[in-house]
Amino acid sequence: MTIDVLTLFPEMFAPLKTSVIGRALDAGVFDLRLTDIRAYSKDKHLKCDDYPYGGGAGMIMTPQPIYDAIAAVDPQHEARRIYLSPKGETLTAKKAQALAQNERLLFLCGHYEGVDQRVLDLCIDEELSIGDYVLTGGELAAMVTIDSLLRFVPHVLGSEDSARDESFSADLLEYPQYTRPRVFMGLSVPDVLVDGHHGNVDKWRASEARRITKQNRPDLLKEENDT
Ligand code: ADE
Repeated sequence: MTIDVLTLFPEMFAPLKTSVIGRALDAGVFDLRLTDIRAYSKDKHLKCDDYPYGGGAGMIMTPQPIYDAIAAVDPQHEARRIYLSPKGETLTAKKAQALAQNERLLFLCGHYEGVDQRVLDLCIDEELSIGDYVLTGGELAAMVTIDSLLRFVPHVLGSEDSARDESFSADLLEYPQYTRPRVFMGLSVPDVLVDGHHGNVDKWRASEARRITKQNRPDLLKEENDT
């Protein structure tokens, strides 16, 4: 998979070069290409923003540098092109899994008060939000999206099982996990997990997943309740 990111702040993407995702990057499981939009500005001061037509607060990213940067990195429109924006469809595990099926993805990160609508109309396939709040730019949203979708790409996680049992995989939150020591600060690991009876472990985990989902995210069980 090849992921292009267009941003005014490529240095913000350092976190993707560490830990699990960094290891997958080093191993060549995916390719991350960071493009500085400013490098494509034809303005003599490399300006990439301007005042909004119609007035109002803040600055808008101008269309030319973005248009030229996209044309340079994806001339044949082979990538699924995504603009990170609070106006977009909300990212979910299901959406991340669907995005992971693309061989090429391109993420455009906006800044200031947004991006000239014409470059979105001309170049972008979809808008994606990571939640109902507003960030100062699309970079963190792009990183969240990339991290969550890469977990569905083969060979990114150590074991193919890890993405199966986790929260949201069956519209349930994950059951609690424990490791050694068996007693920590007076708190014991539940007996069922140390008894070695796999059937009982599975039953306990399923019931804990339901209990935690009901407590923290009853909306996830709602569909089931409605039927
Ligand atoms: N840019 C600013 N806020 C955002 C959000 N919530 N999701 C995606 N991109 C954004």
